[in-house]
Amino acid sequence: MKWPQLQRFRIEDAVKKRDRPYHRIEASPKTVEVRSGKTKAYITKGELVAPSLHPNKLEQRKELVKDVKGGTVVEMFAGEGNLTKQVYADKMKADKIVAVDVDSRALKKVEEKVKDKTEIETYPSHNVKWAEQQLPYQDLRDVKVVDFDAFGSPADAVQAFFDNYEVKRPMRVGLTDGSGLYIAQLGVADDEAKRREWIRKEFGVSYSGQWNREKQKQILDNFMERQGREHGFKVQKVNEAHGDQWAIYKGYKIIPAVA
Ligand SMILES: C[S@@+](CC[C@H](N)C(=O)[O-])C[C@H]1O[C@@H](n2cnc3c(N)ncnc32)[C@H](O)[C@@H]1O
Repeated sequence: MKWPQLQRFRIEDAVKKRDRPYHRIEASPKTVEVRSGKTKAYITKGELVAPSLHPNKLEQRKELVKDVKGGTVVEMFAGEGNLTKQVYADKMKADKIVAVDVDSRALKKVEEKVKDKTEIETYPSHNVKWAEQQLPYQDLRDVKVVDFDAFGSPADAVQAFFDNYEVKRPMRVGLTDGSGLYIAQLGVADDEAKRREWIRKEFGVSYSGQWNREKQKQILDNFMERQGREHGFKVQKVNEAHGDQWAIYKGYKIIPAVA
């Protein structure tokens, strides 16, 4: 399947779109941090703007793992490691964290943040490529959580992960979905038929009626159910929240059909 590409923001446009002024506090050829009051965002090499940590996401992920301790966490969109530190190292006290991100500079920050707290392995790579080429060779028997904190759609990373990782024990899945962002950027938001087609290609599921945030949550649930059918696990919904504008945060528990 050919996945649509996210149209990239220009940094200046993205910064202008925000309702409060943002100030760059650090600039390099690769990563720029912008700050407005206490809110920080960073802009990756690909010029995508990522809010560093939405409070609703932090709470949703903390709740997702509230009765999980130790074990291994795989983060497929690790970024600068806000969830890595605050949720997986500090709260869950994971024994090992495997952090994947295209941005190698961000991963250095992840290492700094948690190196005294837990074992950390970082992989500067596109996550689909990592899932296809490296995941099958990892020693990951004790994965308790896999986190997909995407800026945009998490679908291709989720698909690639479960295509290459056999779920043998119950585990939690954290999803961040910003598909609404893609949809707006692709210009299909005003054409329900085109949007429906895009969603069907991206998530392999369809929906009826007019798309909205509730529909998107249902789409994510159906997408995870489909992963379960394809890969032999049951899916239980744990929690959900949403951020500003487009972002949806979902948590699931998945249980192998044959334990
Ligand atoms: C929302 S941020 C992650 C924030 C991070 N989880 C945190 O709590 O600090 C999204 C990240 O995904 C990364 N990214 C985007 N597409 C990717 C891909 N296909 N493979 C790996 N990383 C990707 C970006 O570089 C960015 O760091």
